[in-house]
Amino acid sequence: MAVDIPAEVVQQEQVGPGLYRLSLYAPQITRSAVPGQFVYIRCTDNLDPLLRRPISIHGVNRERGELFLLYQVVGRGTALLAARRRGERLGVMGPLGRGFTLQAPGQRVVLVGGGIGVAPLVFLGQVLVQRNNQVCLLVGARSADQLPVGKEGYTAPFELAVATDDGSCGHHGPVTDLLEKILAGEGADMVYACGPRGMLHQTALLLARYDVPGEFSLEERMGCGVGACLSCVCKTAGKGGEPLQYRRVCVEGPVFPADQLVWD
Ligand SMILES: Cc1cc2nc3c(=O)[nH]c(=O)nc-3n(C[C@H](O)[C@H](O)[C@H](O)COP(=O)(O)OP(=O)(O)OC[C@H]3O[C@@H](n4cnc5c(N)ncnc54)[C@H](O)[C@@H]3O)c2cc1C
Ligand code: FES
Repeated sequence: MAVDIPAEVVQQEQVGPGLYRLSLYAPQITRSAVPGQFVYIRCTDNLDPLLRRPISIHGVNRERGELFLLYQVVGRGTALLAARRRGERLGVMGPLGRGFTLQAPGQRVVLVGGGIGVAPLVFLGQVLVQRNNQVCLLVGARSADQLPVGKEGYTAPFELAVATDDGSCGHHGPVTDLLEKILAGEGADMVYACGPRGMLHQTALLLARYDVPGEFSLEERMGCGVGACLSCVCKTAGKGGEPLQYRRVCVEGPVFPADQLVWD
């Protein structure tokens, strides 16, 4: 069940240019959080900006009650969040939304993260490894210094491959090149993705071509975070010619089956 609590900052660490990893003490949230869910954070103590900001759950330590977030500073809200220090308290609502469907143990899954979209996939990968899935994480970024994970020194309990647009680290080209190589070679039972819309669209086309199921986590601007304002809707289509529907990313998502998303 989602709660709204004052969560204490345990650690705020800069891990790249404009990239931060935040740890919060929030046992009421870590207790039930699953991969793909998000929290809705009040970035300041006053009412400006009024709206909270949605950030995916990047990991949890249930024993210590710690919640981990990985975020990029893009505007006022996230800049204010980056200024918060150890010991301060933030209003945090969560866990919110519907997470990823976990594959049966033993299956081979590929996670595709574009930029900061990798944040929820690390939590998902950790849980899938615990369930004895074979996990490969593909991370794409503009350049080496923009890689949220995958830099030298980052340790993950799963296979990891990196792509950069400028070739400064790993494969020179889009991260979907790496995915296509896998789908055309050893294949995958399931693909999970999060990142920019263009990357998700390319991933959806590849999944359709190789007939592999997928689930994508969407990032839309949010008003209320709990299903009341309809500001976060995305267009979906049911299977078998069902009519188009608008679904709320904050409640029915943020994770949706890849073949139900409409890309116009
Ligand atoms: C379910 C969900 C999970 C998310 N998880 C993460 C995460 O783990 N880490 C992370 O860094 N970010 C995540 N985001 C995006 C994050 O919420 C936005 O970057 C943040 O709200 C921007 O707030 P701001 O005040 O800093 O920027 P604003 O001043 O509000 O916006 C600055 C710029 O960012 C763009 N922007 C704002 N909100 C979004 C958004 N939701 N998606 C894409 N672009 C946006 C705007 O178009 C604008 O160009 C997530 C979004 C959603 C909906
Ligand atoms: S943010 Fe209000 S309905 Fe989703």
